[in-house]
Amino acid sequence: MARGAETTGSAAAFVPATRSLASLQAAAAGCRGCDLWRRGTQTVFGEGRARARVMLVGEQPGDEEDRTGRPFVGPAGRLLDQALAAAGVARADVYVTNVVKHFKWEPRGKRRIHAKPSRAEVGACLPWLRAELELVRPEAVVCLGATAAQALLGPTFRVTRQRGEWMGTAFAARVMATVHPSAILRAPDDAARRVEMARFVEDLATIPARLAA
Ligand code: URA
Repeated sequence: MARGAETTGSAAAFVPATRSLASLQAAAAGCRGCDLWRRGTQTVFGEGRARARVMLVGEQPGDEEDRTGRPFVGPAGRLLDQALAAAGVARADVYVTNVVKHFKWEPRGKRRIHAKPSRAEVGACLPWLRAELELVRPEAVVCLGATAAQALLGPTFRVTRQRGEWMGTAFAARVMATVHPSAILRAPDDAARRVEMARFVEDLATIPARLAA
């Protein structure tokens, strides 16, 4: 396994051969697959049961996730929890993770502002997501936002055109992409936010029918 302070260009060398979620998480804590380890407080690995039926994939941890080490615990995560409850998806059935496992941010005054991960950073981090998919083998995968959708469904995928469409892929039999919950938080006013939330819940509410009885 690769070690030391240098960046290797891919997480692949850090992914252990013998895998459990715990061993993956422990190994990911030392990942130097791209330079983001220098900026983030810690690796934020996925969370949920090893046999979760649904995997939700976001972009990257945010400020609160970076501090706590847990995915989707900040404002976007709270909105996601509300939407899942409204859509009738049991939180215990869900494994949540991100394409990129370190927080990429730029300083603005005292604040740390989200910065979009580059294609190279996404590619470098993908071995972790592939390992999570192989281990959890979810029945349904939902990509939250364009970064996750394009990482898993290809660079030409457009959430604006194809949101809510279920498709089969090599890594999971049923995959769908919808918006990222932070897009709902950024809606210009309450009325727009309500409309966007309702559409998001509608997309998530299609999950239960995709799970084997
Ligand atoms: N946004 C994400 O994509 N993932 C998180 O874990 C938090 C915010």
